[in-house]
Amino acid sequence: MKIDVAESQIYSGIPERTVVIIFGASGDLTRRKLMPAFYHLSREGLLPQKMRIIGLGRRILLEDEFISHMKNRVIQYCTHKMEDRFWLPIADNMFALRADFKEDSTFETLISEFDRLEKEWGGPINKLFYLATSPSHFEIVLQKMIQFRLHEEIAPNWVRVIVEKPFGLDLQSSDSLNRLLLESFHEDQIFRIDHFLGKEAVQNILIFRMSNLLFQPVWNREFIDHIQISIAETVGVEGRVDFFEQTGAIRDMIQSHILQILAFLMMEHPSSLDPEIIRDEKVILLRAVRPFSKSSIQENVIRAQYSEGVVNSQLVPAYRDEEGVKKESLVETYAAIKLFVDNYRWRGVPIYLRTGKRMGARKTEIIIQLKEIDSTSMPTVLGKQRPIPNTIRIEIQPRAGVELTIGWKPPGLLTEVESTSLTLGAKAQLKEPKAYERLLLDVMRGDSTLFIRYDEIREMWKIVDPIIKYWEKENKELKAKNETLPSYPAGTQGPRIAKAFIERDNRSWNKL
Ligand code: BG6
Repeated sequence: MKIDVAESQIYSGIPERTVVIIFGASGDLTRRKLMPAFYHLSREGLLPQKMRIIGLGRRILLEDEFISHMKNRVIQYCTHKMEDRFWLPIADNMFALRADFKEDSTFETLISEFDRLEKEWGGPINKLFYLATSPSHFEIVLQKMIQFRLHEEIAPNWVRVIVEKPFGLDLQSSDSLNRLLLESFHEDQIFRIDHFLGKEAVQNILIFRMSNLLFQPVWNREFIDHIQISIAETVGVEGRVDFFEQTGAIRDMIQSHILQILAFLMMEHPSSLDPEIIRDEKVILLRAVRPFSKSSIQENVIRAQYSEGVVNSQLVPAYRDEEGVKKESLVETYAAIKLFVDNYRWRGVPIYLRTGKRMGARKTEIIIQLKEIDSTSMPTVLGKQRPIPNTIRIEIQPRAGVELTIGWKPPGLLTEVESTSLTLGAKAQLKEPKAYERLLLDVMRGDSTLFIRYDEIREMWKIVDPIIKYWEKENKELKAKNETLPSYPAGTQGPRIAKAFIERDNRSWNKL
């Protein structure tokens, strides 16, 4: 039975008097995800009674212009219509500042704003710092925060910090970032975000696995032929060239979102839903991923960059022609990886991962392809027909749902097997950035269930680090020979090499 309870009743513990400080507010994340999320929270009555958003960014010119730009983005990205009664509480309490994170004056201004607010609001305030800059700026921002003692909490008020992904740029920089954080912050002040964990459909992976006896017995190498996890996007770099040139698809999408999906999909069932126990199981699974060597990278990893093409009926330029991208850039906008999980449950089952920008469709999905049945089990029906293997397709977005492909006899005189599918729980297309809404609220309430523990981040870096290092070396050779990466026209299913990559195993990618 479903009990309807207003969200505001479920979400107890929303703090009063809270300042959210966004470092990197002129970036895409703030306009595409954070502001729409705050607007939704305002509509739901889930924002703190007294709240101020301070946006700091290198590219903020005029405060008014910034705020009206944010309003336009909320209009663009929200399904709910814009209503001033919900927007004004945000806009009237927003403070935007052009800021250089290396300058003391930036932090002095913050402190004087905090003092002013304490006086105006008649008491101490909670501070939520959001590191939404490029990962290369995280350390400098943190060092300055620590220098100005902004990490210090004066009970009962809290100071929390959200660190966007990628957490560092490789294992080493990630370790050093974590050390820096832990020198001054307590673990319960740190929220390492991966917004895919805020998506309902990602949270549902584990529930789907655990609550259906139908699937439990087949969730292993006995029955599963292979797995595909795909995140395809139609968007390009959306003005985030500086960020993407540092991350590429592997750091931006694989080291975080795809490996988190993999962990939920393949981990052992946790003994309870305690977040720490779930994280323990994810870490055990990630540790079982077979490490990449030079030869396995050459064989099992590919990358590519989009060339000019048509996406959603619009001609879009090649990655190298995007504003701000260097003509000789070797940053991958597409990557595909085949990996193995070397444990008892999964040994020998190939897992294919792929992600790409400017693809022909926006889709995040998991394909679990079961093995073919032994055709001797139905000889008279199948005759010469090839058995149709069952497929479980879990769609994360744009529609959250599950589709099962099964074989059955179509109506008619002929006895033959045809494939048909059952679709479960497909919802209307979600345009709203629900994930950030949920996660911002959780941070304000001090609930870290949907955030990532550092040992998970380490394990994810350990998986991709050898690939990153290999590519760095390969880039030098490519540059010396004036060669480019393989390409794929924007608006397609990806590069030709990706097709060949999976077809050599007699398998094919699910069409996006
Ligand atoms: C972000 C990446 O983490 O996720 C972006 O940095 C990507 O490059 C985005 O576009 C995709 O998230 P969503 O929720 O829009 O699918």
